[in-house]
Amino acid sequence: MKIIEAKDYDELSKIAGDIVLAQIREKHNSVLGLATGSTPIGMYEYIVEAHKKGDISFAAVTTFNLDEYVGLDGEHPNSYSTYMDTYLFDHIDIPKANMHIPNGVALDAEAECTQYEAKIVQSGDIDLQVLGIGIDGHIGFNEPFTPFTSKTHLVQLHETTREVNQRFFDSLDEVPTHAYTMGIDTIMRSKHILLLISGSSKAEIVARLLNESVTEEIPASVLKNHPHVTLVIDRDALSKTK
Ligand code: F6R
Repeated sequence: MKIIEAKDYDELSKIAGDIVLAQIREKHNSVLGLATGSTPIGMYEYIVEAHKKGDISFAAVTTFNLDEYVGLDGEHPNSYSTYMDTYLFDHIDIPKANMHIPNGVALDAEAECTQYEAKIVQSGDIDLQVLGIGIDGHIGFNEPFTPFTSKTHLVQLHETTREVNQRFFDSLDEVPTHAYTMGIDTIMRSKHILLLISGSSKAEIVARLLNESVTEEIPASVLKNHPHVTLVIDRDALSKTK
């Protein structure tokens, strides 16, 4: 795992944005895996700025998002589909047909997962996968003890994850209880993984991630088995690591 230490969130966002832009410049039809949440927002803003300046085109790029809440349709203000439109898709030239996010209101959950996984395989798997990490070590919505062999699947969210994500909703009751997520195997098949970690709330899990060995108890620890991971992390997130 290559570790790049950023002094703060702004620097982390710029470093991460430049890695994504370099990937697209090298391969204009890259397949990107994308994350939501607070961490990548600055990176998306940086990428949108580059596009506005005419520095980059997404016309041939394909994207697959990591996850989506079950029960929220793409128009719902808290869906990850709306998040992606708000922070990225509405501001770049990517064709709609190239963007993929699990359908939170699919009638057949199993078929939705199988088809999503198949589309990723058909695209040749992901060239660059952006990831954040949960305070319990989750990646995507793969909570502790998710098998490392998992493909795209339906998960029940842990209460801690729902509580942490409550900040985007009016109340805890409104936070969905289930989500679709790429599995750990899906993520691990990506050719390059860009893990972004920011802030002191992540310092404890970062210390465990860096000091402990690979275990299903800390899903992100599986990334130590991947040959090409870049971790961009700010000083606050490293504050409990010796
Ligand atoms: C988001 C996702 C999650 C987040 C993680 C960290 O698509 O899959 O694993 O990356 O929960 O979220 P933030 O960045 O809000 O701390």
